[in-house]
Amino acid sequence: MCGIVGYIGRQEAAPVVLEGLTRLEHRGYDSAGVAVLGNRGIRVAKQAGRVRDLGDALPKRFAGATGIGHTRWATHGPATDANAHPHTDEAGRVAVVHNGIIDNSAALRAELADAGTALASDTDTEVLAHLVARSDADTLEGKVRDALGAVVGTYGLAVLHADFPDRIVVARNGSPLVVGVGDKEMYVASDLAAIVRHTTTVAVLDDGEMATVTAAGFSTMRHSDLVATGKTAAEVDVDASAYEAGEHESFMRKEILEQPTTAQAVLRGRLDERFGTAHLGGLDMDARQLRAVRRVKILGCGSAYYVGQMGAALIEELARIPADAEAASEFRYRDPVIEPDTLYVAVSQSGETIDTLLAVQEVRRKGGRCVGLVNVVGSAIARECDGGIYLHAGPEVAVASTKALTNMFLAFALLALQLGRVRDLSIADGKRLVAGLERLPGQIEEVLAGEAELVEVAKDLAEARSLFFIGRVRGFPVAREGAQKFKEISYRHAEAYQTSELKHGPLALIDPEVPTVALVPHDELAERNVGALHEIEARKGPLVVITHEGVDLGEVNARRIVVPRNEPELDPILLNVPLQLLAYHAAQHLGHDIDKPRNLAKSVTVE
Ligand code: F6R
Repeated sequence: MCGIVGYIGRQEAAPVVLEGLTRLEHRGYDSAGVAVLGNRGIRVAKQAGRVRDLGDALPKRFAGATGIGHTRWATHGPATDANAHPHTDEAGRVAVVHNGIIDNSAALRAELADAGTALASDTDTEVLAHLVARSDADTLEGKVRDALGAVVGTYGLAVLHADFPDRIVVARNGSPLVVGVGDKEMYVASDLAAIVRHTTTVAVLDDGEMATVTAAGFSTMRHSDLVATGKTAAEVDVDASAYEAGEHESFMRKEILEQPTTAQAVLRGRLDERFGTAHLGGLDMDARQLRAVRRVKILGCGSAYYVGQMGAALIEELARIPADAEAASEFRYRDPVIEPDTLYVAVSQSGETIDTLLAVQEVRRKGGRCVGLVNVVGSAIARECDGGIYLHAGPEVAVASTKALTNMFLAFALLALQLGRVRDLSIADGKRLVAGLERLPGQIEEVLAGEAELVEVAKDLAEARSLFFIGRVRGFPVAREGAQKFKEISYRHAEAYQTSELKHGPLALIDPEVPTVALVPHDELAERNVGALHEIEARKGPLVVITHEGVDLGEVNARRIVVPRNEPELDPILLNVPLQLLAYHAAQHLGHDIDKPRNLAKSVTVE
């Protein structure tokens, strides 16, 4: 989704801002722009298309040591040059970049038009530039306060004003913003990824906060009344190389290969071999509170929702508590009943997905307890929750989630284990699962070592116009996630089904052109699954089977991909890893831009 970068200091701002914008490209965007403030006032360059093209098209004289830039993902109005940010007032003395949505922009646009203001774009953001220009406050902070006082909505924004050339003013309400501290130079960004090469000393703004950023430093205040909030910057523990693809041809591949290491990170220090349980201090719930949980409701979007379904199955199996997952994007619209003895679990890589955030707020507004399984430390969802489990997957840059998803599963396994062990899960079973979890990172490595065998299979799947992914019970959410990953980056139609449901309808679609990827683990359903494979084969449907050693596929003519076995409850995540690789190699074979799939954004911060 949209990205913001700003710079003020000793260097020319435009190159720094443009370089920062390229670091946000993975989030998804369709236009880009930059504004600099120099001796000749504010100059703006913006256009639909890539940051690289914007850089190439930049006027020669585009000087200024203060600048703001933006990558836009169209919401109000199509991806045109005029709708790209920054937006300015009529005199070109104010420039604004904005992430989020101004809900009352239609009314404000009408009001401005009635007052004779010529609007140059279709966007909600433009009103902010006019409102700042119209304010008669005598400081830029006062002008921004006045403008924000008139708007309803979410924002992370940065403002330049020709009358206040020594500063950038930024404000946050619902869309992330960080201020980065350099040596006589300062940065602002909507995502640390944009500035981490320059500084790791940052201040994260809270909702309702504004900051004045000058070359010498920054100060924070509430944007409603400009009362100082006194925020200071702190060193963040990030490795800048985590934001580089290095020798890998894409971030997605790098992140898939990192999984043996990142899986260890989410387990580290949380397993108790002696008592066969997990310790999750961040949940902030004692044994009595954990025992009082009567139901678990998991909320997430997209892949996070599918892994939530895997998590619900784990919780029901290990803790024998009814559990289910629901798409967070639908949750609050059905006015859900919030029960005091239900534990709500929000799951999100970015911690910024607006649908998940609003679902958490719905739970908490009605007095429910919500914990978070979140990757990005200090993100909005993490802060909104009552407690949680950080995923420790490191920065995930590729739009298609892989390593974070694996760690979500592992975090669910830890939660299920702890909930189970305060109930009736035996110490023997607890120890069996702890040992299984300890084996998992090595087994993921084994699956990855078999990558070469999957390449040809992936190429064939890539040629299909449509595919099925099928699985049963524990395997069904894995099939959903496999289909999701495949369609996201290969742009092929991939549909997930319960294997048992095929004959109730979709079997009609099976023919030699429609392959099926089937999950057939070594479990109590293996024989029935093989029965379904026969039905597909009888319709000449090509078959790829992800399975375990020892599963007898009989006479079925299928390409077999064997993964190592763990404990049956933990097997789903090992079955998922080949599906990541199949999607990856199919997309690569088709020549797609794997890290930036069309129409998608890394974190979806608008409804
Ligand atoms: C799929 C994918 C998306 C996200 C979803 C939620 O590969 O990445 O479906 O899973 O947008 O994002 P987070 O986890 O950031 O809340």
